[in-house]
Amino acid sequence: MLKAFLQGKFFGHPLHPALVHFPIGLFLLSLILDIASYLWTTPNNLFHAAYYAMLFGFIGAALAALAGLADWSDIRLDHPARKTATLHMIFNLTVIALFGINLFLRSRPPELARVPLPFLMLSLVGSGMILVSGYLGGTLVYDNGIGVGRHRRHTNTPRRTLDVSIFERQDGWVPVCNTEDLQDGETLRIDWNGTLIAIAKQGGKVYAFQEFCTHRYGPLSEGKLYDHQIECPWHCSCFDIRTGKAVEGPAKVDLKTYSAMIRAGKIFIG
Ligand code: FES
Repeated sequence: MLKAFLQGKFFGHPLHPALVHFPIGLFLLSLILDIASYLWTTPNNLFHAAYYAMLFGFIGAALAALAGLADWSDIRLDHPARKTATLHMIFNLTVIALFGINLFLRSRPPELARVPLPFLMLSLVGSGMILVSGYLGGTLVYDNGIGVGRHRRHTNTPRRTLDVSIFERQDGWVPVCNTEDLQDGETLRIDWNGTLIAIAKQGGKVYAFQEFCTHRYGPLSEGKLYDHQIECPWHCSCFDIRTGKAVEGPAKVDLKTYSAMIRAGKIFIG
C-alpha cells in the first residue's frame, strides 16, 4: 500500500520525478543566496533566506528519496540499469547528508550576515553532486526506461530473468518453473538459449510471447496485464497475449508467441 503510494499508483503519475524538482530547485536557490551573501553582506538576510531554502529542500529531498527507494526496489536484480540506479541513490543520500550537516552547522550561529566559507564549500559540493545525480537519473529514464509505467502496474515485477537454457527438453517441452511460482495476473521473464521470453498467467492458463515490444523494445514482462492483454510499460501499446496481436498502438507489428502449458504442477514452454 505504502509502496504503491510512493510509486504514484494513486495519482496515475510516478511520484519520484514529480518530487525531485523541489529539492533540486531549493538547494540550488540556497547556493545562489549563499554566494550572494558571501559577496554582499547587505542586505543581511540573504544568509537566513539560504537557510530556509535549504531546510525546505532537505524536507523535499527526504520525501523524494522515499519515492525513489520504492522505484529502485522494483528494478530487476539483473537489469543493466540496476548499478546506475544504485549509484544515483548513493549520490542522492550523500547530498541529503551533506545538506543535513550544512543545516545543522547553520542552526548554531543564526546571527551571521555572511555565509562562512566552509558552509559555502559544503553547499558547492552538495550542489555539484546534485547535477551529477540528476544526469544519472536522466539516463535511467531516457536510456533505460526505468520508472516509466511502473506506477500503472499492480502486480510484482519479475525480480530477475530465469535462465531455462540449462533444462533438457521433455517431449519437446522445456520446464520453466512450478505452477505456484507464477500467480494469476503475474508475469515472468525467462532466457531460453539467449532468447528473452515473457510468460504470463491469466484465468489459470499460461501464455508465452516475445519479451520486447515491437514498438521500441519496451520490456513486456514489466508491463500491466489485464483482460488477456499486456500493456507495454513504455508507451502503452497493447498486445493480446493469446495471439500476439497488437490491439493498440503505437506498435503496429504483432508479437511472436510460443507454446506454453501447465502439466503435473509445472509450467512448460515449447
Ligand atoms: S516500446 Fe512499447 S509501446 Fe513503445
